[in-house]
Amino acid sequence: MPIHLPPIDRRRFLAGTLAAGTGLLLPRQLPAQEEPPIDPNLWVLLADIHIGHPHDKKRRGVRPAEKLEQAVREILALSPRPAGVIVAGDCAFLHGESGDYVMIGKLIGPLRRAGVPIHFALGNHDNRERFLAAFPEAKKQAAIDPGKFGKYVSVLETPHANWFLLDSLEKTDFTPGLMGEAQLAWLAKALDARPDKPALVLAHHNPNIKGKFPAGLKDTEALLKVLMPRKQAKAYFYGHTHCWNIGRRTDLHLVNIPATAWLFNKSQPRGFITVQLRSDVATFELHALDRKHAKHGEKIDLKWRT
Ligand SMILES: [Fe+2]
Repeated sequence: MPIHLPPIDRRRFLAGTLAAGTGLLLPRQLPAQEEPPIDPNLWVLLADIHIGHPHDKKRRGVRPAEKLEQAVREILALSPRPAGVIVAGDCAFLHGESGDYVMIGKLIGPLRRAGVPIHFALGNHDNRERFLAAFPEAKKQAAIDPGKFGKYVSVLETPHANWFLLDSLEKTDFTPGLMGEAQLAWLAKALDARPDKPALVLAHHNPNIKGKFPAGLKDTEALLKVLMPRKQAKAYFYGHTHCWNIGRRTDLHLVNIPATAWLFNKSQPRGFITVQLRSDVATFELHALDRKHAKHGEKIDLKWRT
């Protein structure tokens, strides 16, 4: 389910902090710093953040909370700043526990207070109800606009492209994903209603091309049947594999967003990507958390099919 967390008004946050008596910040003590401008065509993509609680929870030698903190610091250091951050699922540590989502709220606080909205798709390690329970503002939104088929979908319209955020979570703790007929019918209709702008489609699960990746999306061919003939669909984005890779299905780009948490293949980079959108092309840049990784700073231009 895409869960949208809007920016937290900085003045309101500070007022709340002061009112609660928990902060010692006085207005005159606030740093008079200029915030970098926001670029409406710059986006940050994260996947598989796997946040647990407590903060130092570790798996495969990695403390995911520390990795996300580093990513947040680096995103905030970007100038200009992105128009938004999208997390392509597996937000929770392993079982979608309530405490995982509370911790996520804490870790992404600096982004929201800096005016950067965050959009979450959910993965197989997430739990819809518990995620929503941790974010009352998202729960309110979901109550207004609930998924009509047990899933939640949305479209983010931007100057050069529309993001279609899909929900491939079939069941918490069950590895493969499923879009389902109803969601795909919604997608076809939503794409048809927006024929003129590039459509960038994102969900957690990787495509199971030719049945080679059974842990991926079970109804891959049905998804491709919707995407392939609709030329406005330029790329499908996903996480799940904890790998950074760009491939293709004929002229449709397939973008595998790297994980910030543990890796299954140690040679893979851990990090996030930035996407600079233009009308007919997008530039992807890998920001590896390990600056020494050979792929850190790798830039790839993807030209959109016509
Ligand atoms: Fe994952």
